[in-house]
Amino acid sequence: MTDAPLHAAPDSPYRRLPKVELHCHVEGTARPSTVAELAAKHGIPLGVETPEDLYSYANLPDFLAAFGTVCSAFVDLDDFHRMAYEATEDAALAGIRYREMFISPGFHLDRGVRFDTVWDGIVAGLREAEEDHGVRTRLILDVDKPKGLGPALAILEVARNLDRDLLLGIGGDSNEIGVDHEQFAPLVREAHNLGFKTCFHCGEEGPAENIATMVAAGVDRIDHGTRLLDLPELVARVVDEQIPLTSCPTSNVELEVAPTLEAHPFAAQLEAGALVTLNSDDPAFFRFDLADEFERVATANGFDFETMVAIRDNAIEAAWLDETDKAALRAELSV
Ligand code: HPA
Ligand code: ZN
Repeated sequence: MTDAPLHAAPDSPYRRLPKVELHCHVEGTARPSTVAELAAKHGIPLGVETPEDLYSYANLPDFLAAFGTVCSAFVDLDDFHRMAYEATEDAALAGIRYREMFISPGFHLDRGVRFDTVWDGIVAGLREAEEDHGVRTRLILDVDKPKGLGPALAILEVARNLDRDLLLGIGGDSNEIGVDHEQFAPLVREAHNLGFKTCFHCGEEGPAENIATMVAAGVDRIDHGTRLLDLPELVARVVDEQIPLTSCPTSNVELEVAPTLEAHPFAAQLEAGALVTLNSDDPAFFRFDLADEFERVATANGFDFETMVAIRDNAIEAAWLDETDKAALRAELSV
């Protein structure tokens, strides 16, 4: 077991390319060594011989079970501080300079962990890591879709009092199959009324109709959106309105949403004119990072460096920053 993250591409120009990431779950960055150490500290059984054994799955529900087990090792404020600090340390190693990162509070509240413990720990960890590593992070609170609208609105109620310099938006994640996405239209509306941006995981394991539902609800970004091309009228709208997609091809291959990177619709979505961004989703769970994602997607599609820089620039465009901030980020990250 090593503390260092696994890098498939240590000398890749894509590691040096300064990047922006818009789809990464803070819990999905938890290093196996940290999970093992904290589980031992709290006497929490992980049910496997080594924590690496947790990081293997055949589909999204299977993955989410492992995600829940990993979460169970994080209990007190110091644990969440460490989670966020290490997430940022690893982001710096991947060449990430700005990130909008998800927190999934449902996985913690369910275990009796207080919301303040999660939030205060993560915020403290991010602040310290920004000082040490120069990576700026902003946050998105994700509701647990299978729990339904009531618990989602309760999360929004908590969100309204949090620091708006840090918390930019409300999202939705977890299982997709069997979840009625239409129920979340009032959540999107209410979140917008409170001045939040919104995004939702959809069209990942579920059909493109879920993307259509969330676009109709008015979300500002689509997380994954892998199935988008199944509905041509929807493609036209997403392209027309330049509604960003936060694509995670390696995650989709690992969770058997797409058969291979070569067969993943990422390139076809770009070709269709969509504002597609490239993201790692849960880098610790897939044993890679965003630099590796750039390298792999470039290789799988025969994209040159310039094309990958343009893909990186899509993430600046799709970021929830004002135009002045985006212009500053563009200048800072120009290569
Ligand atoms: N999909 C849904 N829920 C998640 C994911 C994902 O890719 N990663 C972490 N929670
Ligand atoms: Zn995700």
